[in-house]
Amino acid sequence: MKILGIESSCDDTSVAILDGEHRILANVVSSQHHVHGKFGGVVPELASREHLRNMQPVLNQALADADCQLADIDAIAVTYGPGLIGSLMVGVNFAKALAYGLDKPLIGVNHIRGHVSALFLEYADIQLPGLALIVSGGHTHLLLVKADRELVLLTKTRDDSAGEAFDKLAKMLGLGFPGGPVIDRMAAEGDPQAFSFAFPRFSDGSRDYSFSGVKTAAARFLEKDPQAFADPDGRARKDLAASFQAAIVHQLLNRVKHGLRRERGIRSLMLGGGVACNTGLRAAMKALGLEKNRKVFITAPKLSTDNAAMIAAEGLRLYQQGVRHGLALSPEVRLKAYDSVALL
Ligand code: KG4
Ligand code: ZN
Repeated sequence: MKILGIESSCDDTSVAILDGEHRILANVVSSQHHVHGKFGGVVPELASREHLRNMQPVLNQALADADCQLADIDAIAVTYGPGLIGSLMVGVNFAKALAYGLDKPLIGVNHIRGHVSALFLEYADIQLPGLALIVSGGHTHLLLVKADRELVLLTKTRDDSAGEAFDKLAKMLGLGFPGGPVIDRMAAEGDPQAFSFAFPRFSDGSRDYSFSGVKTAAARFLEKDPQAFADPDGRARKDLAASFQAAIVHQLLNRVKHGLRRERGIRSLMLGGGVACNTGLRAAMKALGLEKNRKVFITAPKLSTDNAAMIAAEGLRLYQQGVRHGLALSPEVRLKAYDSVALL
């Protein structure tokens, strides 16, 4: 059994091939950072054009890496949401054409559920129920993962995602896109207590995540003393990056702690999505696991940022449950990642 996964929901074109035992035979990712870098964020129209250009060569490379041919593929999984409409359309239509041409089943995969599946692809020993914090450029979700892999939303962001906040600070500092990795590196040399960021509190008592406040606060710090931030290697930039990152990590972990307090019997803590690459967040999650005596699972960087192996993994899980979408599948920009909601 071989399943082919296709991911094109945002700015990475990726094709992966997994065998029936969830072994990764190929996972090719073509990133578009060089295209969007100068704009400080993903330009949707350019992203879909790049996907069109890259999809076939990426597929060819994946087949070569897996040492197989299209005729060896038994099923096709593709991200159909959430994401950018133009980008999703390229992947979904490409997948449909393959499924039609090869006469093989087509399975639509939810991108965020794909990030959850990346954890199970990498680790065979995750004990459930667990809490999964999925943080990417477009989403920030804290999910309860039940024993049968049912996903319950505990909280999500009401405005920007954490990844978006990193990207926006980098843009304000003229550091290109994506901003997370650059801010992460700068933060390592700064003082996380140099700047203070208010913790978001809502009058309705909700425990939503919110990252637009840290972004605005950072903009104020920059406006107040532009001179201090002018030196690209100066103290002020490093301190701001460190304090900004610490504020984001603190907020992310605060909700995980609430989740642990409220949900009974949590056995694992999981972290996935592109922001799971963040060294500060990884360290904080591991420390929380030690403190609370829970095992921590964090995807390796290659499986944290967008990739088709996670889509193929989720697709294979659905395929084994008998799910088939067929050629009527169409992109759903606002597809929900969870089965039910039980807000913190
Ligand atoms: O999951 P992903 O590849 O794409 C989406 O589904 O959005 O996540 C990309 C996001 C970007 O916002 C990027 O800045 C962020 O992940 N990111 C990081 C780091 N590496 C990537 N954020 C903070 N620290 C990092 N080291
Ligand atoms: Zn993602």
